[in-house]
Amino acid sequence: MIGVIEFITLLCGIVVSFFSEDLFDIWNDENGLVNWPTALTKDVLPVPCHSHNDYTRPMPLVSALKAGCVGVEADVWLIDEELYIAHTRPKVTHGRTLGSLYVNPLMSLLEERNSAINQTLHGVFETDPDQNLVLLIDFKTNGADTLPYVISHLSPLRDRGYLTHWNGAKVVNRPITVVATGSAPFELLTANSTYRDIFYDAPLELMEDGEPKPVQRARSARRKEEGQGSSGTPSAVHLGTYNPSNSYYASGSYDRSIRFPWKFYITSNQLNRIRAQINEAHRRGLKVRYWSTPSWPRNLRNHIWSVLVREGADLLNVDDLESAIKGHWWSNNEGR
Ligand SMILES: *[C@@H]1O[C@H](CO)[C@@H](O)[C@H](O)[C@H]1NC(C)=O
Ligand SMILES: *[C@@H]1O[C@H](CO)[C@@H](O)[C@H](O)[C@H]1NC(C)=O
Repeated sequence: MIGVIEFITLLCGIVVSFFSEDLFDIWNDENGLVNWPTALTKDVLPVPCHSHNDYTRPMPLVSALKAGCVGVEADVWLIDEELYIAHTRPKVTHGRTLGSLYVNPLMSLLEERNSAINQTLHGVFETDPDQNLVLLIDFKTNGADTLPYVISHLSPLRDRGYLTHWNGAKVVNRPITVVATGSAPFELLTANSTYRDIFYDAPLELMEDGEPKPVQRARSARRKEEGQGSSGTPSAVHLGTYNPSNSYYASGSYDRSIRFPWKFYITSNQLNRIRAQINEAHRRGLKVRYWSTPSWPRNLRNHIWSVLVREGADLLNVDDLESAIKGHWWSNNEGR
């Protein structure tokens, strides 16, 4: 009998997950955009959410900030000396650029927040001025070609001191932390040892084995996946390479590395691997982000989210912002 009820619950979960967030659209008040930027995040509490493929939302950046997400993701394509934001090459649209969707709105928001003279720099969240926002830039075109454009597009933020940076001795935290992934070139990002304001997205899977032996390294390398920081890494790179001077996240595909929980719970074997990855990444001072976490059924997704948060994952990759914040499950999940 219990089994039947569980099965029905599961089915309901599957049915519900087919509805997009538009069905529960709570962002309708966005015609109140005249209030941008001050009223935008007035009462919003930051939550450890990363707005996955943020630019696909009706309001890129705005929806994520209203949900309290402390990270947003932008896929960039270098075409005709412009950085376009799109998931795939055919989706590239005139006017949707790194500048128009992210850098300019962030500039106006931060300038508004920091209009008082001599105040310490405030971040985008009024309720928590020390909270930074991670702008994850996923390089879709050749890393070496794209990087100079990314660097120059960020200059308004850099010039006003809004970018978290490595100053040769320590990381200086500022309102915006830029992290590069995809085909971002690790060697070029880290070439300057005294100033860096674009941090790398280290491969989380490498963390699992601890400092790898050559054989393990080959296995880990095979397990790496496109779409995250690995394509730009030189072959000589090893686990010890990644630290806060050059990297911010250690990210990994949940689906690929931990695997879909076909038993509909996380096995002890899977849990051990999650723990090994998170512990090693934290030992190296990196923040953990899993992507490709199962998104359905919803109760399974929520279970995985809460286990990841409990085990110390620093950010959750969220597609469905609406249910992510409505649940507020990460503040009162198991044992917290
Ligand atoms: C801002 O700080 C500078 C240097 O500490 C000081 O000389 C100046 O008077 C301050 N201005 C205001 C408006 O507090
Ligand atoms: C590193 O970057 C800083 C700041 O842009 C610059 O002043 C310095 O010359 C650079 N160093 C090297 C070796 O390129």
